[in-house]
Amino acid sequence: MSCIEDLKVYVYNCNRCRLSQRRKNVVFGEGNINAKLMLIGEGPGEEEDNTGRPFVGKAGKLLDRMLEAINIKREDVYIANIVKCRPPNNRVPFEDEAKSCIVYLRKQVAIVKPKIIVCLGATAARYVIDENIKITKDRGVWYKKGDFYIMATFHPAALLRDENKKKLAWEDLKNIKAMYETLP
Ligand code: URA
Repeated sequence: MSCIEDLKVYVYNCNRCRLSQRRKNVVFGEGNINAKLMLIGEGPGEEEDNTGRPFVGKAGKLLDRMLEAINIKREDVYIANIVKCRPPNNRVPFEDEAKSCIVYLRKQVAIVKPKIIVCLGATAARYVIDENIKITKDRGVWYKKGDFYIMATFHPAALLRDENKKKLAWEDLKNIKAMYETLP
């Protein structure tokens, strides 16, 4: 069995935080384990909890269209979340939940070894890039951490709530595509 499959089985049995008590399914993450690009969201919503798959609800449909717009196939990237179980009413994960779950994300990153990590929204940016990051100010900026180029952009759910953010998100997407093409 591959490393990622072992990790998945482990996470499926996780009870490290209160979110495990109400979940229907663990949303471990999915995609190409050799992906050059890894996308990180906040946590599962209702449809993700029902299906066990990341970004399959409304925000996920928009994410699919965003990837299509830059000619990157969803099956070529790896998609994961900060927390693997749905927070009640889709609230932002509490810090203790995020901190106990992020060990799994770190392992996923270590296995996939993406060249580029894109944080979708403030929660992912906060736990992956810097706890003081401000998505409106700091989105679209490349951070180099170890071997990774990391950028934060708006969460697709934020784009659904506020159309005015789409123009900036499109700039970020073009920027991500350019980096994707530049790196081997
Ligand atoms: N929002 C997220 O942050 N992650 C998902 O998987 C779905 C919606």
